[in-house]
Amino acid sequence: MSKTTDEQFKNVVAHAKEYGFVFPSSEIYDGLSAVYDYGQNGAELKNNLKTYWWKAMVQMNENIVGIDSAIFMHPKIWEASGHVGGFNDPMIDNKDSKKRYRADQLIEDQISAYDKEGLTDQAEALQAAFDKALNSDNLGSLRELILAHDIKDPISGTANWTEVRQFNLMFSTQMGAMAENADLVYLRPETAQGIFVNYLNVQKSGRMKIPFGIAQIGKAFRNEVIARQFIIRMREFEQMEMQFFVRPGTEMQWYEHWKQLRLNWHLALGTDAAKYRYHDHTKLAHYANAAVDIEYDFPFGFKEVEGIHSRTDFDLSQHQKHSGKKMQYFDPELGEDGKPYGNYIPYVIETSIGLDRMFLLTLINAYEEEDLSTAEKQDSRTVLRLHPCLAPVKAAIFPLTKKDGLPEKAREIMANLKTEFNLQYEEKDAIGKRYRRQDAIGTPFCITVDHQTLEDNTVTIRHRDTMAQERVPADQLDRIIGDLVSWNNVLR
Ligand code: GAP
Repeated sequence: MSKTTDEQFKNVVAHAKEYGFVFPSSEIYDGLSAVYDYGQNGAELKNNLKTYWWKAMVQMNENIVGIDSAIFMHPKIWEASGHVGGFNDPMIDNKDSKKRYRADQLIEDQISAYDKEGLTDQAEALQAAFDKALNSDNLGSLRELILAHDIKDPISGTANWTEVRQFNLMFSTQMGAMAENADLVYLRPETAQGIFVNYLNVQKSGRMKIPFGIAQIGKAFRNEVIARQFIIRMREFEQMEMQFFVRPGTEMQWYEHWKQLRLNWHLALGTDAAKYRYHDHTKLAHYANAAVDIEYDFPFGFKEVEGIHSRTDFDLSQHQKHSGKKMQYFDPELGEDGKPYGNYIPYVIETSIGLDRMFLLTLINAYEEEDLSTAEKQDSRTVLRLHPCLAPVKAAIFPLTKKDGLPEKAREIMANLKTEFNLQYEEKDAIGKRYRRQDAIGTPFCITVDHQTLEDNTVTIRHRDTMAQERVPADQLDRIIGDLVSWNNVLR
């Protein structure tokens, strides 16, 4: 990472705290690792991202419905899904520092270090050996690579490593008051299983016909060993997932469909397409027959934001086996042979996006330190060029002064608009300072009420991006703001 992008990222993190987007959790107790709280502007931005996703997935598609399943679920669900047995990270401990690391992460860091030093041959050789080790699922070969490349613990500086062991990422807790492990429950590590176990409830109660989808937004929990890069890897985070149930044999066509649609969803926000790329999985999970990540070019490199997975009938078949309940769908439509397709377990295409990663992407993409200097004076501003649909505050209302009835008039205008838009009223400081505060949180409009307003009911409206100002009738503000922040701008 070059110094400038490193600094820029640090500035975004500092900005997120200073302006009420993201705070470290439990900060007055020195924080809790890899856990974060969203502040007053962060909560609004997050809600707007959820709305954008929900509208695009549920409201715009007649054959997709949304649910909200519980975080606690029957522990057998996680046995059926494979999470109890296989949701692990390979861990290695340094015997001198007693610190624990993800073995795969140590190797990836070494590849980046070779790259940075211009040692391309070493980087490529280690990458090839690493891919081979991952494909073989041989934990011992990860340790061999760590030793062969003399990868040292950054704390102790030694390469005195233990064996590599698997470490399950699920959090567990007790429910009720039962003996021993009889009451063990897990905090869900993905929202998807809440959809699978409800698929027949939804299908029957909603009279859904294949192909159809079930969407859900909710918290997920993973005991990540390496907490990194701010809200990229958290222990408590939010997912927006959709499972699309299809006829077996049609899954690849739906996989391609959702792969394209999901990228379009990102690009409709106006983000530079060059910042995105697809990354096809070469090593597929045991349940998948195709998988791709949508990655974004963060200041620290391309990172996964969303996954599209063709999960076959694995999850539903597993639940049928473990619960003893039929998971089959009866398809009355006629196939090419003129006979009904009949009973089958549907195949599933999943789209799964991390809301917190999407949040960070949005913030980084919007953040700009703009130089406004002229020959006469030095000037600058920090502006969040958020898409207006996503902006936490849609407009700020300023009386020019605190007297002459201007605050009353400003509040009257605000009262007419606030059922539709999230607004902020500010009368403190000079107008220029108030503009800067709104620029910093990405407010698309600032509306100033002055003495002329009292005479002809017009106001000045100042646009965040161009800083241009115009005079408009106050009774047209709902249309002007409404047009710019309308979901039509991103959903059509
Ligand atoms: N149901 C499929 C599933 O959970 P995943 O690739 O493990 O797939 C989906 O997770 C998305 O959730 C990722 O693309 C990422 O954006 C987000 N995600 C996963 N782990 C995360 C973590 N520890 N912190 C923040 N976001 C995470």
